[in-house]
Amino acid sequence: MDVAEFRCSVSLSALKLTFMLLFALTPVEGQLVVGSPQPIVAAPGDDVILPCHVEPKVNVVGLTVEWSRPDRNMEYVHLYRHNREMTDMKIPSYFGRTALLKDGLREGNISLRITNVTQEDEGRYRCFVPKLKSQTKSSTVSLIVAKTMTTETTPNS
Ligand SMILES: *[C@@H]1O[C@H](CO)[C@@H](O)[C@H](O)[C@H]1NC(C)=O
Ligand SMILES: *[C@@H]1O[C@H](CO)[C@@H](O)[C@H](O)[C@H]1NC(C)=O
Repeated sequence: MDVAEFRCSVSLSALKLTFMLLFALTPVEGQLVVGSPQPIVAAPGDDVILPCHVEPKVNVVGLTVEWSRPDRNMEYVHLYRHNREMTDMKIPSYFGRTALLKDGLREGNISLRITNVTQEDEGRYRCFVPKLKSQTKSSTVSLIVAKTMTTETTPNS
């Protein structure tokens, strides 16, 4: 192998190493928190899931996940911290009615389940992963609680 060839292979492996390092680092940097552009519609008494996830998938079991109400002074609906729910700052009307999905956090699925929704639950919800190293650490989902269930929908007209 001559000198030029040798230099070439050295810089190639340096390049490869750089790429490998970039790959090892990007998973944390390139995440996005994605909610739902469409509102979730429910009737009083329904159980709903407010969709929100981290994309690409990353295990967020060890991270803090906050669900709050931007239209109610950012008060907490569900606060997950130190691997469990912290209820001390939660809006009282949500006591015992919220849950993150089982095994969801491991897959970056931070959707929130709310049982027995009422008219007061209607509004905007924000899902937020503060420790994510990304530009988009939060997203929002709107919940509409319709007073009466609409049974008449218009299918493909
Ligand atoms: C998160 O989990 C919910 C409930 O299982 C499911 O409906 C939703 O599609 C999941 N989201 C993603 C992005 O996998
Ligand atoms: C659902 O909420 C309504 C109104 O707050 C309450 O009267 C009812 O007992 C609740 N149902 C369940 C199954 O918790």
